Amino acid sequence: MRPKILISRRLPQAAVDRVARDCDVDHNEANIPLKAEELKQRLQGKQGLICLLTDKITDELLDGLTELKVVANVAVGYDNIDVPAATRRGIMVTNTPEVLTETTADFTWALLMAVARRVVEGDAYARSGEWKEWMLLEFLGSDVYGKTLGIMGLGRIGRAVARRAAGFNMRMLYHDAFRPAPAVERELKVEYRDKESVLREADFVTLHTPLIPETRHYISTKELRLMKRTAFLINASRGPVLDEEALAQALKEGVIAGAALDVFEQEPKIHPGLIGMRNVVLAPHLASASIETRTAMSMLAADNAVAAVLGQRPPTLVNPEVWKG
Ligand code: GLV
Repeated sequence: MRPKILISRRLPQAAVDRVARDCDVDHNEANIPLKAEELKQRLQGKQGLICLLTDKITDELLDGLTELKVVANVAVGYDNIDVPAATRRGIMVTNTPEVLTETTADFTWALLMAVARRVVEGDAYARSGEWKEWMLLEFLGSDVYGKTLGIMGLGRIGRAVARRAAGFNMRMLYHDAFRPAPAVERELKVEYRDKESVLREADFVTLHTPLIPETRHYISTKELRLMKRTAFLINASRGPVLDEEALAQALKEGVIAGAALDVFEQEPKIHPGLIGMRNVVLAPHLASASIETRTAMSMLAADNAVAAVLGQRPPTLVNPEVWKG
């Protein structure tokens, strides 16, 4: 019997075809998330699930799904999945690392440049019909080259951001709970600092930590108050890493100069205090959204799911302790 896989949202056809080669596919092509009850109902009798970060894979959802072998997330972050609950039930969880690293770092830079150089404000003004003369003293932003970049989290994406910063001749500071080998620091030209020093010294602080209990509200009022009044904050990690209420308040009081955000605490909701601010650039969780990368993520998730249901080790397994070989 061919294994059965549920694909919870619309995926590129190549990834669906990849799954269909070896498995029977139930594909939610509606492209809106399935409600928890429908997700559970459609998972009955399935061996695999390919899901997006909008699907909440809870203990309750997994309860009673005795045939389920794998939950394959189409994302590198997997905070939408209760991994311990899956592990307890012997269900494999997979993610999509590596394939999105460079694309996400590119977009981090797009956000950084956009907020520093007021690209979005300038675009709105250029379209408005109000532009009459070239102006010497309007829309003045902040230089990027030669400034200090503070990287919170020197994982794959943080490192890719650092490599790009070298081209801007920036001084680079970072903080991470796990300090890499000295050779990595030397190669990237990054200097380790404690969290507070990075916040105090950086002109741009960019967040690249996963969302885990220790990083929830990693940046809140206290941290924002340590930053320079001229500094900018960039977040392309996960929304809850940043306390949005604290950020809205800090921006209102001029505690920092601006922010550029790709992720939010309760997507797709955005704190109303941020919406009207000219010194905030907002994006709807786009950092990995290139054609090539979203396709590669979907293909990797398909490979993970198919391998698992066929009894092979998935290429990017998050909870290897359930792998019995
Ligand atoms: C996107 O946010 C991802 O985690 O891949």
